[in-house]
Amino acid sequence: MLLVTGGAGFIGSNFVLDWLAEHDEPIVNLDSLTYAGNLRNLDSLAGDPRHQFVRGDIGDSRLVAGLLAGHPIRAVVHFAAESHVDRSIHGPEAFIQTNIVGTFRLLEATRAHWAALDAGGREAFRFVQVSTDEVYGSLTPDAAAFTETHRYEPNSPYSASKAAADHLVRSYHHTYGLPVLTTNCSNNYGPFHFPEKLIPLCILNALSGRPLPIYGDGRQVRDWLYVKDHCAAIRRVLAAGRPGETYNIGGWNEQANLDVVRTLCGILDEERPRADGHSYSEQIEFVKDRPGHDRRYAIDARKLERELGWRPAETFATGIRKTVRWYLDHQAWVADVTSGGYREWIETQYASSGSAP
Ligand code: NAD
Ligand code: DAU
Repeated sequence: MLLVTGGAGFIGSNFVLDWLAEHDEPIVNLDSLTYAGNLRNLDSLAGDPRHQFVRGDIGDSRLVAGLLAGHPIRAVVHFAAESHVDRSIHGPEAFIQTNIVGTFRLLEATRAHWAALDAGGREAFRFVQVSTDEVYGSLTPDAAAFTETHRYEPNSPYSASKAAADHLVRSYHHTYGLPVLTTNCSNNYGPFHFPEKLIPLCILNALSGRPLPIYGDGRQVRDWLYVKDHCAAIRRVLAAGRPGETYNIGGWNEQANLDVVRTLCGILDEERPRADGHSYSEQIEFVKDRPGHDRRYAIDARKLERELGWRPAETFATGIRKTVRWYLDHQAWVADVTSGGYREWIETQYASSGSAP
């Protein structure tokens, strides 16, 4: 079975749902349920014996060692992280603790487990480090997209903490032979995206009549990938990636932030027109820029296509419309997240027990 960390977050929960839709191999899902973790994302798995949720910290070495000893884990897929750049600027400490120290402790526990396996088990074992394109730093407008050999030049506390974790992962392969795979993916969007991030924030602000905040001039470029394509890429890397290798994952879809938000507004104008007949784009407001804001990211995903046959299935046009419709169709989830109701539910759920069934 798999040990998935951070499987109640945005990408992790999509991965768990997609995995169990495609495989019968069970998952132990370890997540500490920070503000970004939401068990409501996994409601459709209630009562499914293939999914075992454990509330806990990746930095809790005893807990992780116990999980690895108590289950036939053949791979760790490591999503758990502090993931929001703006939060890392306001308070980097949690990023250092989870992304660096937490990953280190997870690696240590995994190494001990792996070393005790028989030769076949060691050979087949995998540790997947789910990382980001932000470790490569910022591109000038005409520069070639990031390849796997691009120098690491992280610019925010978030990306620096992910870069440090990636280096640790690499060192565990080089030094101890742990069969690791690292993926560096571009910006994801899709269902269950927490509304601190640009796309869900703007969808929800638009619908509630609030401003759509654009940092600086809005010409910063990101390479957007539908989250289910990211999950498919990770499945492919887990199945056939070569230990010790890194794989870039991206959508071949560079967009300036302002264009993304205008596209969202256009879809909302069609799907849920404003009562006054005006466009949601009238709610766009330019606000103070993010300190150290990276100008452009772009991923060259040709290695993954060449070696493992992966390409994104969604275009931005199809993926973004699906995403807007998902938010329109999941008002209960939205209400729970925006009111903080999902957190109250977690506190009630965990008041007396350490983990969910
Ligand atoms: P997220 O913030 O939505 O979810 C993170 C999850 O990790 C949450 O469920 C949280 O409760 C859990 N978590 C945090 N600290 C933990 C700890 N110490 N122990 C156990 N669980 C903990 O993040 P996401 O957007 O789903 O990103 C998942 C991973 O993918 C991250 O490693 C991120 O760096 C990487 N990534 C994200 C994107 C993106 O666009 N969102 C792109 C590329 C890579
Ligand atoms: O590139 C991959 C990364 O993508 C992941 O590693 C991160 O975990 C993930 O959070 C995301 O980082 P970004 O900083 O690119 O995502 P965010 O949604 O916060 O911002 C996207 C762009 O939009 C960025 O240029 C900042 C801008 N922005 C963001 C917000 C929240 C705005 O203009 N206004 C906003 O209110």
